[in-house]
Amino acid sequence: MSSQTIVVVGAGAAALSFAAAMPPSYEVIVITKSSVHDSNSMLAQGGIAASVQPQDSSAAHAEDTLYAGGGHNHIETVNDAVVDGRRIVMELISQSFPFDKDRNGRLQLGKEGAHSANRILHAGGDATGRMLVRHLISRLHSNVILREYEAACELWIDNGRCAGVWTKDQAGSVRLRKADYVVLAAGGCGNLFQMHTNNRSVTSDGLSLAYRAGACLTDLEFVQFHPTLLAKNGRACGLVSEAVRGEGAVLIDENGRRIMEGVHPLKDLAPRDIVARAIHDHQKQGSRVFLDISEIPDFYQRFPTVSTLCEQAGISIEKGRLPVSPGMHFLMGGISVNRWGETSVPHLYAIGEAACTGFHGANRLASNSLLECLVYGKRAAKRIQTATNRMSLSAKRPSLEEITFAVPECSLEDIRKNMTDHVSIIRTADELKKVKKWFEQMPVQIINVKEITNEALELAHLWQTATLMTDSALLRKESRGGHFRSDFPFRDDAGWKGKQIVHSKGSITIRQNEGIVNNAAAHA
Ligand code: SIN
Repeated sequence: MSSQTIVVVGAGAAALSFAAAMPPSYEVIVITKSSVHDSNSMLAQGGIAASVQPQDSSAAHAEDTLYAGGGHNHIETVNDAVVDGRRIVMELISQSFPFDKDRNGRLQLGKEGAHSANRILHAGGDATGRMLVRHLISRLHSNVILREYEAACELWIDNGRCAGVWTKDQAGSVRLRKADYVVLAAGGCGNLFQMHTNNRSVTSDGLSLAYRAGACLTDLEFVQFHPTLLAKNGRACGLVSEAVRGEGAVLIDENGRRIMEGVHPLKDLAPRDIVARAIHDHQKQGSRVFLDISEIPDFYQRFPTVSTLCEQAGISIEKGRLPVSPGMHFLMGGISVNRWGETSVPHLYAIGEAACTGFHGANRLASNSLLECLVYGKRAAKRIQTATNRMSLSAKRPSLEEITFAVPECSLEDIRKNMTDHVSIIRTADELKKVKKWFEQMPVQIINVKEITNEALELAHLWQTATLMTDSALLRKESRGGHFRSDFPFRDDAGWKGKQIVHSKGSITIRQNEGIVNNAAAHA
């Protein structure tokens, strides 16, 4: 009987999928700095993409994923993940997961941007993420201990391997949670931008922890701006799911003209980067953009979460026009991992949005993220159970004294404003250099882990991620997927195909990834 301990940082779908897949012989400690209800997964309105109907296929799903991904996906990863994902979705069905069905008891399959078939399974209308988290929690064994309100501050690296996590509880006590393996599943970095769809707690903690521990981060320039955040007085009031456009809603300007006509053959269901830029262009010209939902029958029943958001924001659904604006939604890049979720640091895994698996390429296909969480949660669990090369520890005593953080002397709002103004939907070298200069001139305070507050810790994490993202965006002199440079507005396959920008231990390098280079030529 094994007595291995695994610490999981984060409590969204990836973390819980991993924890639910670990047999009772392992101790699994899931820590989250807020409550288990605070994650991006809980907010996920979109569903889970899987080719479950006979006229659809994994090959078609892979093809759509590659098209959206802008020729930057890892081809084998995509092919494997859609097949594994379909199998896991079938397992969920056999576990009576409450996917939405029509009156005849058949699965209701929705359509979202850049999908060539109806293959999005939803639950609770637009509450799939919440339902999935609930389901995964119900499948945890008693070996899984959930620790809420405990923040991960630093990974403990000993003898070249990850051996635990330093954490801090609400009372400010710092402790070392020793572990045989650590799994980072703490999401992306939505809070870097003013308009975003993410939970307040998503502050790039996993990325920052991994980077500080020497792991490689990659593809940080690829940021997905979702086209339709519900917007009021310049503030985001939540997401209006792409499924709403899948059901027939269209984007219009103030005069009721459709804005996606003539922009892309898929019109309102074009890949997200294209739709987001089209809306951004209209806004730059001073026009507001709306989602015309007047043709959707039973909007309240079909989209209860969006309806509630509208109600809370004081926006009338009856008028049939929802004010929308693009905003940060998802980071395609992250901690570089292999097909098992293993990072470049032994015994350290990363899964979910925190990881960069190569599945999403330069732009994620709608409803592929919960799928990725499920696939990689299970894979990492399997890998740990079959691992044979356990690395030993040294006799060195862990010490708190050297754990310090560079905290900028600015506010979170300052970071968000600068990232939004200069590193957002449309980028240029001049704008990126402005923010880089701002970073360089900002004084920082060095604070020891014992003294640091949770807010300052989040600021340090976001600051670090913001600087790395800006450097990546400056270096990639082309436009691809979620990275658009108006000074280099075209995709440059001759110069950039298969190239990844990698950050590790203070250095930035460009690496060729053969798994991307061999990506189908059809996507050039
Ligand atoms: C949406 O419902 O539009 C978001 C779903 C996703 O990001 O996959």
